[in-house]
Amino acid sequence: MSVHYLSDSPGPIGVFDSGYGGLTILDCIRKVLPQYDYIYIGDNARTPYGTRSFEVVYEFTLQAVNKLFEMGCQLVILACNTASAKALRSIQQKDLPYIDPRRRVLGVIRPTAECIGQLTKSRHVGVLATAGTIKSESYVLEIGKLYPDIHVVGEACPLWVPLVENNEFDKPGADYFVKQHIDNLLKKDPQIDSVILGCTHYPLLIKKIRQYMPGHINIISQGDYVASSLKDYLHRHPEMDERCLKHGTCAFYTTESVDKFKESASIFLRWPIEVSKVVLE
Ligand code: DGL
Repeated sequence: MSVHYLSDSPGPIGVFDSGYGGLTILDCIRKVLPQYDYIYIGDNARTPYGTRSFEVVYEFTLQAVNKLFEMGCQLVILACNTASAKALRSIQQKDLPYIDPRRRVLGVIRPTAECIGQLTKSRHVGVLATAGTIKSESYVLEIGKLYPDIHVVGEACPLWVPLVENNEFDKPGADYFVKQHIDNLLKKDPQIDSVILGCTHYPLLIKKIRQYMPGHINIISQGDYVASSLKDYLHRHPEMDERCLKHGTCAFYTTESVDKFKESASIFLRWPIEVSKVVLE
């Protein structure tokens, strides 16, 4: 894979996910930071990432990051837990110094882990996520570094992303799988009082998740935490803030069918969007 000429001029903020899930993050980011320009890439042709190996998720994510850099982004958010868990560290430590040490790639796991200390009283936290994120133990490790007294258990929900990607998230067929994984998680640790939705697709299942989650449990969607963490980051890094364009625009790219993306994404975002095709290689 080769990276083409990289311009040094200010650019949009890049937001990447394997599919539609990152739109839940973008939506929250744009509410808090509407003045910035954004480019979203959904790798819908190769979703889901959650069941793929470390090597493959890393390769696909790096391709997307390079594409967003070529499109002018100086800052990229991996709005995908699986990519954040499996690719972020390697990209930050191994690739960025060669590609362009002034550009930045940020993930969604750290901002979510940071908020949990204030939200749990029982100090027992559950994580619902893809098989890849659970297997990586990223939440256990990140929360453990910040709050060693918190006990974290995870449950992989391999069918939840396909339910969202195939527009089945509000259909009756989804109920069985939503209930099954919530029950499994609470069986592993009945003292859980807070559950992280550790996959950016899952907020789209929120109605059904609320239906099957006992009422005393906090359900933690990451979007607002990621958005306020980004706001804080840009405030603390004026040199990066200057490198981000501010006209309030948002462009969407998909590796799959443009029409399909437009239709599904408009349902999630509730506003009409312009979409173009992109090839990641
Ligand atoms: N939305 C992504 C996440 O947050 C990945 C879903 C997938 O492709 O499996 O993990």
